[in-house]
Amino acid sequence: MPKITYVDHAGTVRTVEGDVGSTVMEAAIRNNVPGIDAECGGACACATCHVYVNDAWADIVGPAEAMEQDMLDFASDVRTTSRLCCQIRITPELDGLSVTTPARQG
Ligand code: FES
Repeated sequence: MPKITYVDHAGTVRTVEGDVGSTVMEAAIRNNVPGIDAECGGACACATCHVYVNDAWADIVGPAEAMEQDMLDFASDVRTTSRLCCQIRITPELDGLSVTTPARQG
């Protein structure tokens, strides 16, 4: 299974395995990774699963689509690498993906 690494704002690193076909948000919730609230359960309707994609992975993960971009307007401290991780589907190519969670959600 692809490994996904979450780094929190304090620098704590947590690496979990994620099922192909699930999302980076679901892998975090299933493994009790803190810093991702995911209040809407993955419907792209809350912006509380905001993460920063590591620069080295930004092109592979790709940019947010229009609906996600609209929801990102509700997130704090949005940057060029910001994504809502419920919209990042785990594929074998994402093995090793690293994302950083923001200091706060919403
Ligand atoms: Fe709500 Fe991602 S979980 S937008």
